[in-house]
Amino acid sequence: LSGVVTLDPGYKNTGACTSNITFLDGEKGILHYRGYSIEELAEKGNFLEVCYLLIFGELPTPAEIKEFETHIRRYTLVDEEMKTIIDGFPKTAHPMGVLSALTSALIAFNPKAVNPGNEQELYEAVCKLMGKFLVIATWTYRKSKGYPLNYYDNTIGYVENFMQLMFKLPTEPYTANPAIVEALDKLFILHADHEQNCSTSTVRMVGSSHAGLFASVSAGISALWGPLHGGANQAVLEMLEEIHANGGDADKYMDKAKDKNDPFRLMGFGHRVYKNFDPRAKIIKKAADEVLATLGVNDPILGIAKKLEALALSDEYFVSRKLYPNVDFYSGIIYRALGIPTDMFTVMFAIGRLPGWIAQWKEMRLNKEPIGRPRQVYTGYPLREFVPSDKRK
Ligand code: SDX
Repeated sequence: LSGVVTLDPGYKNTGACTSNITFLDGEKGILHYRGYSIEELAEKGNFLEVCYLLIFGELPTPAEIKEFETHIRRYTLVDEEMKTIIDGFPKTAHPMGVLSALTSALIAFNPKAVNPGNEQELYEAVCKLMGKFLVIATWTYRKSKGYPLNYYDNTIGYVENFMQLMFKLPTEPYTANPAIVEALDKLFILHADHEQNCSTSTVRMVGSSHAGLFASVSAGISALWGPLHGGANQAVLEMLEEIHANGGDADKYMDKAKDKNDPFRLMGFGHRVYKNFDPRAKIIKKAADEVLATLGVNDPILGIAKKLEALALSDEYFVSRKLYPNVDFYSGIIYRALGIPTDMFTVMFAIGRLPGWIAQWKEMRLNKEPIGRPRQVYTGYPLREFVPSDKRK
């Protein structure tokens, strides 16, 4: 090897790029988007303006956000032929697999958006993806229920559209509960970006070969699907439901999580960067109490989650490894209270993370980052001679 290769599996100590989008301080539990604290943005902002902030770098003026939303609305129709693609999937297909496939399929119907060559083309591609992604994300759910596929309503807001796209039936009028829209808006803000996490690194890696924005996001969706990453929000609910079904014996599951020979992990706990607490988990935990109280939902699962958290925070195994609840630990409890099915939880994460993926892909291309191509430490055979097939044992 020319020069020395530093082996760093999982890139635990590798900086892949410079970025001015998101700042994390894992020790202090700090998260900023473009210099604004996640606490302030979740409290005082809204998801569409946070999308604008992440993608274009500044909080939008009223005129800028109006223009952005108007431009997105130009592209909220999805080519009707995309329905033949979704019809090819069985109802039992996991929504993340369908979403990744449909996002890639969007390329065929939007060839000009594939690889934007200048700021204007990039702006068009961003607005197309922001508009169409929300629609196809909800189509995965509608398909699984055998419901007709809804269209974006250009007379209502982005997050309110998510609710009508998901739940409006042709048999009756539909108005989303404002408290639910507000809770979802906050959740999407909390998921919007997180510097060089697994799925964002995937988006940057794929984009570094000059594959297009849609193809790069499609790859990011597949990375997010994994239960160690965004798929954890679904795994957390399945874990909590299993504990509840087994009489709520949290201690037994704590022991399983600490048992080296047991592959079981306490899903929703631990983080590569946050070694204190995940600031998003704190906000989501509070929101869970508020949303369930507002909706009058008394979910025993929330009690089990809090019991697990309390046990872990006073358990040497977790404390010594600095394992705290992460963004995925409480989010599913809110989604469930909003009537969103468990297998759609990671799609919710993807909807929230879309602006972060777009912002990071844009930064990577504008910075003309080189194609990603890490090296390795070779541990295979030294040179050996070919063995004719009749001489092989
Ligand atoms: C997300 O990167 C991001 O920013 C991601 C994310 C984002 O916004 O993009 O924040 C979203 O992916 C949050 C994480 C969701 N995943 C989970 O909740 C799955 C459960 N957590 C783990 O699998 C784990 O904590 C990770 C994947 C989150 C982090 O893994 P690391 O940094 O590679 O840590 P590790 O696996 O090396 O664990 C260190 C030690 C090990 O024990 P020892 O070998 O030292 O004895 O902690 C143990 C692990 O066994 N451990 C756990 C545990 N997580 C780590 N033990 C029990 N339960 C857990 N959840």
